Amino acid sequence: MTAPQIPMALLAELTHRCPLKCPYCSNPVELIRRSEELTTEVWIDVFRQAAAMGALHVHLSGGEPASRRDLEDLTEGARDAGLYTNLITSGVGLSEARIKDLAARGLDHVQLSIQGVDPETADRIGGYEGGFSTKMKVAGWVVAEGLPLTVNAVMHRQNLDRLAETIEMAVELGARRLEVANTQYHGWAYRNRFALMPTEEQVRRGGQIVAEARERLAGTMVIDYVTPDHLAKFPKPCMGGWGRIGLCVTPRGTVLPCHAAETITGLDFETVHDRPLAEIWSNGPAFTAYRGTNWMPEPCASCDRKTKDWGGCRCQAFAWNGDAGTTDPVCSKSSGHAKVRAAAMAEAAEGVDAFDYRSF
Ligand code: SF4
Ligand code: FES
Repeated sequence: MTAPQIPMALLAELTHRCPLKCPYCSNPVELIRRSEELTTEVWIDVFRQAAAMGALHVHLSGGEPASRRDLEDLTEGARDAGLYTNLITSGVGLSEARIKDLAARGLDHVQLSIQGVDPETADRIGGYEGGFSTKMKVAGWVVAEGLPLTVNAVMHRQNLDRLAETIEMAVELGARRLEVANTQYHGWAYRNRFALMPTEEQVRRGGQIVAEARERLAGTMVIDYVTPDHLAKFPKPCMGGWGRIGLCVTPRGTVLPCHAAETITGLDFETVHDRPLAEIWSNGPAFTAYRGTNWMPEPCASCDRKTKDWGGCRCQAFAWNGDAGTTDPVCSKSSGHAKVRAAAMAEAAEGVDAFDYRSF
């Protein structure tokens, strides 16, 4: 095992409640109910512990974090702990007054999700009528308040052909950054993969559109984009490496090395009620299982990229190989690569349009 570094960021999943029903949601299929959520006081103690460990950022996420009535108190608590606060939101549940209050209590940044570029498409994908018009208003209030705005657009087969319009919309909304996020096939997204998987041609065109827009918009808006896993040559360093720079706390307080880590059966997860966050981070069994490089099998063990991508994604390795301690099958050096690519192509070719919407 390699000695743990300081976690730079805490992903705080404040709640799984959300008015939207996005079929690509990465929350687990078994959602946590309100009655099990951590209280305001416990969350603020978690923020203080994370800051004392050296964390710099907290991402206030969900579900929809605005579903918590104490979001303003939580934001203030995180800010008082010394953390940079980023609200990851669908916008639904926010009002102009709430945004002003959040800004006054120390909110530093807003990341707003969009599902499509017109009300009909966006509201169908999000499973929530009126969502699009709310988001447009929220973006305006955020920018008017002087808060930096990032737009997050999860792309898939049913909206990727409108990527150029998505980029223009983010510019018009006043975003400083656009995350063109390819769907990650965990949780609900895995369940909906036949309706979401893009074709190879869509991905190729998407890459060209982003490259052109990055050049044209340099100095105006930053665009984040990575090639979808199954069409990439090498995996991305998922989570920046397992147990290396970030940790996640679920609505009921389970401490995870990755938001999807509970899909890996056989790992022992601890909660914030069990022992201090710093101890769980440094020697919790789930964190030490795949930290560093000592756990790696071949071809990772002798690969010169092993400290660049940290062997890719453990959740993906488990989903495909039944063993999280194997090479991420999206890697072109992995024996499973051809199988993953062929499966994705077959899913895209099915042409299923109907969604299985996220629900409790
Ligand atoms: Fe990364 Fe392992 Fe593939 Fe090398 S063999 S590129 S370390 S996943
Ligand atoms: Fe869990 Fe990649 S999604 S390690």
